[in-house]
Amino acid sequence: MSASPDRRNVRVLVFAASLRRASLNRRLAELAAAVVEEKGGTPERAAMADFDCPSYSGDVEQEGGVPAGAQRFRERLAAAHAFIIAAPEYNASMPGCLKNAVDWASRIRPQPFNGRQGMLLSASPSMAGGNRGLWSLRVPLEHLGARLYPDMFSLAQAHEAFDGAGRIKSPVLQERFERTIECFLELVEAATHYRPLKKLWVENLGEHPSAATDRVEHTTLSG
Ligand SMILES: Cc1cc2nc3c(=O)[nH]c(=O)nc-3n(C[C@H](O)[C@H](O)[C@H](O)COP(=O)(O)O)c2cc1C
Repeated sequence: MSASPDRRNVRVLVFAASLRRASLNRRLAELAAAVVEEKGGTPERAAMADFDCPSYSGDVEQEGGVPAGAQRFRERLAAAHAFIIAAPEYNASMPGCLKNAVDWASRIRPQPFNGRQGMLLSASPSMAGGNRGLWSLRVPLEHLGARLYPDMFSLAQAHEAFDGAGRIKSPVLQERFERTIECFLELVEAATHYRPLKKLWVENLGEHPSAATDRVEHTTLSG
């Protein structure tokens, strides 16, 4: 990896959306965190277990509020300028534990995804690397106002892809991985420090405004 550039502080929450001890996505998330650091950012590592929640229920929410896992998720998102999630693909979609945590966290105000920069990664033993799951994950996150980076890195045949030091064996893929994360960091740095985002979040932008149904929020992301 190349030397650290002179980058203004960019804090990135990094976690894998797998609860499995030997998770391939955890290895990819750890590599992403190392690259963030190498490129001058500050990785804030977390684990899916930190954010895991009981299945969403309106009754549970009404009786006991938002569970601790979702509160932690919101706090860690709010403390970072951006997030990177390495998510497994389950049946061509995202893992239920992640969708559940997103749903719970979306109940908190200010809603923590709005205006936040995000990047999606996946790792799978399959040839497609779990990429279909990331397209499904974009839907709720973008619905909630996250600014998702267009490029998604899906590591195919991930069970054979890492070397003993946790890097991607293929030098070409390792270089692409580093370059993609570096470009993401450049965007996050610009969005955070040079053009502070003031973003209005309206759940359904073209719907007739109504106090009874509107979910509208203003968010400012400051350095
Ligand atoms: C319920 C289930 C569904 C899965 N569906 C897919 C799938 O649609 N596509 C895929 O590439 N892998 C699929 N897999 C395989 C996972 O990608 C593989 O187990 C991966 O290692 C899980 O991520 P992890 O290692 O980070 O825990 C599935 C695994 C499970 C348990």
